Amino acid sequence: MADRMIFEKRFIRFKDISISERILNTVFLLTIGLGYLAALANMYYTHQGLDGKAGLSVDDVVISYYGSSTQTRLGTAVKGIMASNLKIKSDQDVILKWIQNGATETSYDDDIAPILNRDCIMCHTPAINPSLPNLTNYAGVSEVAKPGGVTIPTLVRVSHIHLFGIAFILFFIGRIFLLCEINVYVKRVAVVIPFAAMLLDVVSWFITKSIPEFAYVVIISGMLMGISMGIQILLSIYQMWFYKEN
Ligand code: HEC
Repeated sequence: MADRMIFEKRFIRFKDISISERILNTVFLLTIGLGYLAALANMYYTHQGLDGKAGLSVDDVVISYYGSSTQTRLGTAVKGIMASNLKIKSDQDVILKWIQNGATETSYDDDIAPILNRDCIMCHTPAINPSLPNLTNYAGVSEVAKPGGVTIPTLVRVSHIHLFGIAFILFFIGRIFLLCEINVYVKRVAVVIPFAAMLLDVVSWFITKSIPEFAYVVIISGMLMGISMGIQILLSIYQMWFYKEN
């Protein structure tokens, strides 16, 4: 019976590794944790305040990826040189909101066409001024209502750096985390979550470029990656040093 036990398959856990290895693991995990906090701070400073309000918000994320109403030719014009043509001042916000919400055709017919027909098309008609943007129909208006946002080459660059860099980090964190004493099914799922969240995050950057609502997926998947990574780090450090079986 005792001999049979020797051949039973057993995987290594934290209790099997040396103190030196625990120290190495711990300094690695702490450094990564610190690096992650610095990355969060960096993200905060690059994206916060884009919407004109202090702090990081969903709007800031939308502006970063999808773009902003005021980066469009139409948005710039109604805030600047063409502002005086608007008979009702608050129509400026109506137009800017419409651009920010994707400049769709349905709300164009309902909300935007009446304003432009009243205040703009006396000049912006091809028959009168062929060189000016045509504001008499949806096709012409949407031409000048496209927000800039992040460019595809930039997204490709940032995503390849992210995928390569973070994959390494998550792999090493995951390898250490596998030495924890927890339910194996939980463990099998737990090692996949940060990778899946990172992939979803990167994919949703690209989608947010066209569909602003995806900013929520960017935020939620980013948070999920951070939280799942944080749990792996903290649980690993805890079990490495403080966990006593039974
Ligand atoms: C009195 C004539 C006139 C009216 C009314 C007018 N515009 Fe213009 N618009 C112009 C002219 C002229 C230009 C070109 C100005 C320039 O390039 O400096 C222009 C340029 C523009 C541009 C292009 C700016 C760019 O990026 O080059 C937009 C967009 C625009 N107008 C929107 C509007 C909107 C919206 C309204 C209604 C609120 C409006 N305009 C009303 C004459 C008019």
